[in-house]
Amino acid sequence: MIERAFQSVHTGAPTIRMRRPHRTRSALAATVFCAFALYIAWHASHDGPSRFIDEAPLTAALGKAPGGQPGTAAAIAAAGAADALDLVKRGEYLTRLGDCIACHTSDKRRPLAGGLAIQTPFGKIYSPNITPDPDTGIGRWSNTDFLRAMHEGIGKGGERLYPAFPYVEFTRVTERDVLAIRAYLNTVAPVRYTPPRNELRFPFNQRWLMIFWNLFNFDEGRFVPDSTKSAEYNRGAYLVKGLAHCEECHTPRNFMQGLKQRNRFSGAVQAGWQAYNITPDRTGGIGAWPAGALAAYLLTGAASGHANAAGPMAEVVQNSTQYLTEEDAHSIVTYLSAQQAISGGVTRSRDTWGQPAINDVTALRGTPVTTVNGAQLFIANCASCHHWTGAGVGASAPGAYPSLIHNSATGAANAGNLAMVILHGVTRATKNADVLMPAFGSELTNEQIAAISNYVTQQFGNPRAAITAAQVGVLRATPQ
Ligand code: HEC
Ligand code: HEC
Ligand code: HEC
Repeated sequence: MIERAFQSVHTGAPTIRMRRPHRTRSALAATVFCAFALYIAWHASHDGPSRFIDEAPLTAALGKAPGGQPGTAAAIAAAGAADALDLVKRGEYLTRLGDCIACHTSDKRRPLAGGLAIQTPFGKIYSPNITPDPDTGIGRWSNTDFLRAMHEGIGKGGERLYPAFPYVEFTRVTERDVLAIRAYLNTVAPVRYTPPRNELRFPFNQRWLMIFWNLFNFDEGRFVPDSTKSAEYNRGAYLVKGLAHCEECHTPRNFMQGLKQRNRFSGAVQAGWQAYNITPDRTGGIGAWPAGALAAYLLTGAASGHANAAGPMAEVVQNSTQYLTEEDAHSIVTYLSAQQAISGGVTRSRDTWGQPAINDVTALRGTPVTTVNGAQLFIANCASCHHWTGAGVGASAPGAYPSLIHNSATGAANAGNLAMVILHGVTRATKNADVLMPAFGSELTNEQIAAISNYVTQQFGNPRAAITAAQVGVLRATPQ
């Protein structure tokens, strides 16, 4: 489903190295070794029990004094029980923000029990079981083990975890919030289930190699607020850079598949989908969206006249952002709109293209079907919901069939997401509406999908965004 960061140790580096003359190679090896030694030294000096002494919130909430001693007064215990409930509720909210369920569930009947295959260029990683089952889940993990996984990307047995697990972001989450997540996870139904073993090729099955990846791409440490900025900005920064891990999909990657810090939020490809530029640039990004549109998009998945959430983003909205409190949604907006604007050379924004068709239906009546005709295919497959004018049905009402005019999927310079939407449809269940567009992947050929897509971008979107049948074939073959 989700293709991710472990793509990390890209093969590019070794290939380049091999071509270098011998002396350069030894120098490089020495440098890497020194860096490694320094890293180990640094790590040793930063390690130790002193890092995790602050387990007070959980112990207090469970009615015990810090240090594991039972509380002395009945009053403390009663207050503790109420706090424990709050703690679990808070943990549930945070677990949703972190979208743990998206990656840790392969079968809806076994939530959080893992087993989802995460595709990487080096093979498959199966997500682990994080239910409290003592044998197959994390039931025997101490809070310290759990904190170490979330903050340092290190498993219970001291093994390095692959960055397909977004610890690069989770490291910023406070100890208090990580422990709330743990408290919540302790309350979910334990599921006895052992996910399949990873299918990674050598050398990527060598976990210790992650030490090198971390060296260049991982900055361990909790979120530090910026005292020159508002509380709202800092809350947004904490959420976006931490649990919500927006950058995992929206920030492009370097040759090692680490996040390119200088191009934050400027767009990247995720499992064949364009995770668009969401910087505040007015043409390349979403800087021209009116006030409220981004919050509406995160809370419902639709920002009428701008964008609808399909593919991986529909899942993010369904599992995660729809549950944001209004305040947290606005904090995210405040933070994102204050980031560096990156145009990416785009001169007209995705959501400003297109106008309604005016004459297609009449023109098409009685025309013999000879070749693959995008207009005819559109009328046959799409117009019942999106109207033959492309203007949609239901305007901005919840669950409306959206207009294809002024829609980021049809106005983007690359028609990939439009083809993906035709291939896979849209399913997104939120408090606001259950949204369903059927998938046409099994009914239409690559030629037909390319023809519809090209008709749609010509008529309703960015006419320069053309796609070929071969390109649709590549998208079709991308594992979801
Ligand atoms: C983008 C996908 C993704 C998301 C989101 C995600 N995880 Fe994971 N997680 C993984 C993968 C993949 C692994 C296994 C990594 C490995 O094998 O090295 C993992 C490993 C773990 C582990 C280590 C378990 C073990 O047995 O070693 C814990 C604990 C964990 N995740 C907790 C969480 C929590 C809590 C959240 C939500 C706050 C979360 N994860 C969100 C993909 C994800
Ligand atoms: C799992 C990958 C993933 C994550 C995590 C993710 N996004 Fe997205 N996002 C996407 C994809 C893919 C699209 C394009 C969806 C489409 O075309 O319907 C998208 C679209 C968007 C859009 C619409 C842009 C447009 O012009 O259409 C916004 C806004 C957005 N994401 C914001 C966020 C924010 C804020 C976060 C963090 C809270 C986030 N995303 C997390 C993958 C992701
Ligand atoms: C049964 C009704 C139905 C049919 C038929 C249908 N759609 Fe949709 N379409 C929807 C719904 C519902 C959505 C999602 C609305 C939302 O996100 O709130 C949608 C969304 C879209 C989007 C926006 C996706 C995004 O990521 O922004 C595009 C583009 C689209 N449809 C194109 C098409 C095309 C092309 C066809 C014909 C091949 C088609 N639709 C057929 C109902 C339909």
